[in-house]
Amino acid sequence: MNEPKRYTVTSALPYANGPAHIGHIAGAYLPADIYVRYLRSKAKDVLFVCGSDEHGAAIEMRARKEGISPKEIVGKYHGMLEKSFQTLGIDFDVYHRTSSELHHETASEYFKVLEEKGEFEVRESEQYFDEEAQQFLADRFITGECPNCHNEEAYGDQCEKCGSSLSPMELIHPKSTLSGKPPVKRKTSHWYLPMQNHESWLKSWIEKGLLNGEPHHNPGEWKTHVLGQCMSWIDGGLHPRAMTRDLDWGVKVPVAGGEGKVLYVWLDAPIGYISATKQWAKNTGKDWRPYWQDQSTKLVHFIGKDNIVFHGIIFPILLKAHGGFILPDNVPANAFLNLEEKKISTSRNWAVWIHEYAERYPDKMDELRYVLTCISPENRDSEFTWQGYADKVNNELVNNYGNFVHRALVLTHKNFESKVPRRGELEPQDKALLEAAATDPGCIGALIEKYQFREALTEAMKLCTKGNIYLTDEAPWLLLNAKKEAYNPERGATVLHVALQFSATLATVMEPFLPFSSARLFGYLNIDPVGWDHAGKDDHLPEGHAIRPSDHLFPRLDPKMVENERTHLQETLKATVSNPAAKPFRNTSTFADFQKIDMRIGQIKEAVPVPKTDKLMQLTVDTGLDVRTIISGIAQHYKAEELIGKKVSVLVNLAPKKMRGIESQGMILLAEDPAGKLVFVVPESDIDPGSEVC
Ligand code: 2FM
Ligand code: ZN
Repeated sequence: MNEPKRYTVTSALPYANGPAHIGHIAGAYLPADIYVRYLRSKAKDVLFVCGSDEHGAAIEMRARKEGISPKEIVGKYHGMLEKSFQTLGIDFDVYHRTSSELHHETASEYFKVLEEKGEFEVRESEQYFDEEAQQFLADRFITGECPNCHNEEAYGDQCEKCGSSLSPMELIHPKSTLSGKPPVKRKTSHWYLPMQNHESWLKSWIEKGLLNGEPHHNPGEWKTHVLGQCMSWIDGGLHPRAMTRDLDWGVKVPVAGGEGKVLYVWLDAPIGYISATKQWAKNTGKDWRPYWQDQSTKLVHFIGKDNIVFHGIIFPILLKAHGGFILPDNVPANAFLNLEEKKISTSRNWAVWIHEYAERYPDKMDELRYVLTCISPENRDSEFTWQGYADKVNNELVNNYGNFVHRALVLTHKNFESKVPRRGELEPQDKALLEAAATDPGCIGALIEKYQFREALTEAMKLCTKGNIYLTDEAPWLLLNAKKEAYNPERGATVLHVALQFSATLATVMEPFLPFSSARLFGYLNIDPVGWDHAGKDDHLPEGHAIRPSDHLFPRLDPKMVENERTHLQETLKATVSNPAAKPFRNTSTFADFQKIDMRIGQIKEAVPVPKTDKLMQLTVDTGLDVRTIISGIAQHYKAEELIGKKVSVLVNLAPKKMRGIESQGMILLAEDPAGKLVFVVPESDIDPGSEVC
């Protein structure tokens, strides 16, 4: 696209079913905020919208878990999410919500237009129904075996193990998560989007960046993993997708026959971007239309990788089918962030929650933004560790950026009564630094425009390094010290003058990444924020300009915080899970699988350690129906004489196996703790050998 007239930037609407954690922020919010702040600094017309996604199964599931209504759930989390974003400086122009009247109206209208244009097919189909709960089941409320990888805990819409997207009917042995029972099939009617009819234009749009035969965007700018996921969906064949659901909570289907049905959340939520824009327009007295309907607007959706097909395929189909709307220029999706070697997990409380971080480190929002950008999962999953956080803050923000600025400011306070000193003749090294200030912001900006925020920040930090090398080489503290041989106050003044101009450059270049410290730095320099295109100038501060009292931009972190934070993580994990070290559960077995196992109570009659082994004990066990030999690995945990007469649980139909030349005819059940300690699983009161364990 030619130079856009305006930008509409969206961040995925987070489900209002829990607070925000660092994984959310690194995924769809911080990159978008950096992009938007950069555009604003370039004085572009940019609108940044977001809001809470308050419908769908995710909300209903949480409501069931907390034992309150969906309305109460969204009431609880919407405000929390909004506050977390604000605290971190994620500066939306509007943070809306899909439960609002304006959104219901907008989504409803949108649906009606599609219906009137004949873009849907109403079809009767069989859907899963839970007879006990007396309701149709949302895809997420059904689990079962994935037909592709045989993970037995796949959801009705997606298998989280192999990543394939599914429909509930594809699941093997489906089960309702509401009642735990297999659901039954029941007939119902729904409005389907015949996605297959859109395949041809979609393919050319995604692969070639063409729309109606005209260049629309540069597909080379899309991330490989985004293109790959979209193309593999298309190549796998597009199918009609139901755009309505049999539920109460959501936007009511606004056409005849729609009673008792609501819009599918993936139709409803992206329209939330449009209704948020309308809300912003109402708040500001502006017109929302150009931001969605003018071809010279660049639309960019920041999302997490689990949202790719919805923004790369389904929403574009809906936008085109409606008519009059623009399509996204890019969908820069991020992968996932792990935490201390594990997946972030809300249910296990393995997360760094933004509201908790803000409570513990209210003045360290930029530090978190910095680290999350450095490790941003731009193309693949990445990992946050507290050690990494502390190292990055202390070695990079404190020692590099903070140190440069502090030296420039303190020397000015001390030697020039807080006034910008006079600049004399420039030496080549001064010119070289000012030249870097003039050119590097352009390179950094180009990286931001390509959504390469990690790389852009690395380049910005390299600019700080250039400043530090300059100061260390020129050593103005020696030039300004009458007792030193190098004493040359005029030269010292020039060096500080250059360093102060350069500090203003850094404040601008760092602003998209670290807005709080940039605001402080502009405050110390006592100037208004400088726009991106002026960042490289060397006249931000005239000679004699008074700077303000200053402090360190980034206080050094006490390394003890790493251990404290790790302990906190473990403790909060323990609060939800009594034994975090326990091995994860194996895949679900069916009752039929379980029935194949024959377990009985047995009584140990004899016990002899197996010669030349440390661990094995040869046991003679009365199983009620026979007396047999079983080898068990308990010799390090029990003495032979302690075992005689003990009642134990025995797996009696295990195929016999020879160990050390002795045939073992079964297995004694033992419980093993994570440290390897073994104890018998014994009947709670006396019961005869041969009794079934069932
Ligand atoms: O995955 C999610 O968290 C969804 N709530 C994202 C919705 S994005 C958009 F469509 F609104
Ligand atoms: Zn699978």
